[in-house]
Parts: sequence; structure tokens; C-alpha cells
Amino acid sequence: MTDTINPEQHSTERKFLFLLGSSRTGGNTEKLARKAAAQLPADVEQQWLRLRDMPLPDFDDLRHTGDRTRPLPTGDEKLLLDATLEATDLVIASPLYWYTVSADTKVYLDYWAGWLHLREQVRFKERMAGKKLWGITVISDEDPANADPLLGTLRLTADYMGMEWAGGLVGHGNRPDDIDADTATLTAAKTFFAA
Ligand SMILES: Cc1cc2nc3c(=O)[nH]c(=O)nc-3n(C[C@H](O)[C@H](O)[C@H](O)COP(=O)(O)O)c2cc1C
Repeated sequence: MTDTINPEQHSTERKFLFLLGSSRTGGNTEKLARKAAAQLPADVEQQWLRLRDMPLPDFDDLRHTGDRTRPLPTGDEKLLLDATLEATDLVIASPLYWYTVSADTKVYLDYWAGWLHLREQVRFKERMAGKKLWGITVISDEDPANADPLLGTLRLTADYMGMEWAGGLVGHGNRPDDIDADTATLTAAKTFFAA
């Protein structure tokens, strides 16, 4: 453990981290996520991060380069790592791009592999274990099953990390605010985090 990484939290209080993965602001996925979050109790802390505003460099796979060459996270990477570790609940709010998460979301998840590699310094896997992973997405296709690859990515990631896959919410829409017409999903959003 180094002093560049936040100490492990011992609180049992819930803290939700919302990671917004759209490449536009004011999109449907964020709107749906905010509808769901509005139902969280007031004492549940919320942090919202827009991945596009915290661009991570291309991920370098340094796992097998012989020495421990991965530098400790700094800048936006460190902010994302600290926020990830501090949350009890991680909500990936990514639109469906080509049947999976957006590129910004994917790069963030790729960095998890780097953080896993910083074993002694971060102990990422131990500290992620037991957290809940949620997925929220909006897709333009009529068939919500088209989001299965995105939800499967998140569910399998949760399994690998020893996290709890808490479930997915799939809305329908293409142009901004189309989600307003998806009344069934907006209704489901009200109880999504209560499940
Ligand atoms: C790069 C890109 C890829 C997309 N791929 C899909 C797709 O595979 N399936 C689908 O139903 N919609 C797809 N869409 C449509 C978006 O999911 C839809 O417009 C959604 O409402 C965008 O969410 P946002 O408003 O939160 O950005 C794609 C849109 C973009 C920009």
C-alpha cells in the first residue's frame, strides 16, 4: 500500500458511483440513470462521473513485460480508481454501441486489468469483491435482447471480480429525450435499485 492510494473504506454505508459512458451529453442513458437514482434514499451518497470528461490514454497491456513496469495511477486514472474503490455500488450507464458498451466505457474497464496487476499497491480484486455492479443502457432497436451482449459483459466481469451482478435496466430510444416515451422502462427505473 502506498500513500497515493486512498485507504480502504470500512463504512457499511452505500455509495453509488455512476459512470456515464455516452459520447454525447444530455443523452437517453444518463436521463434513465438519473430517473433510477432519484429513488435512492437521501442518505445514499451518489457520485457521477462522465467518462468522456476524464479521457484515459490508450490502455497498455504491461502484464507480461517482465518487470513491474506499470506506473501508479495519476490524474484522471487515479480519480477513477479512487472513486471505483470508494463505491459500494458501481453503475455502468452506457448506451448500446454496436451491441456492447461504448468505447469510453470499455477503456475504463480495460484499466481494471491494469489495476489488477498492481497487486500489492492496490489489492484491486480483494477490494472490489462484494461490491454490486449495475448496468443501465438505452438502445435504438426495438428488441431489448440486443442489449444482451452488453449485459453479459458486465455480468461476467462482475463474476470474475467476485462482485455481485445486481442487474440491468434497458430502455428504448434513439434521439435525445426519446426515453421519455418509454414509460414502461421509466416505471421500472423507479424500483430498479430497490431490487
Ligand atoms: C456508435 C453508435 C453505435 C450504436 N450501436 C447501436 C446498436 O448496436 N444497437 C442499437 O440498438 N442502437 C445502437 N446505437 C443507438 C444508440 O444506442 C441510441 O441512440 C441511444 O439512445 C444512445 O444513447 P445516449 O442518448 O445515452 O447517448 C448506436 C449509436 C451509436 C452512436
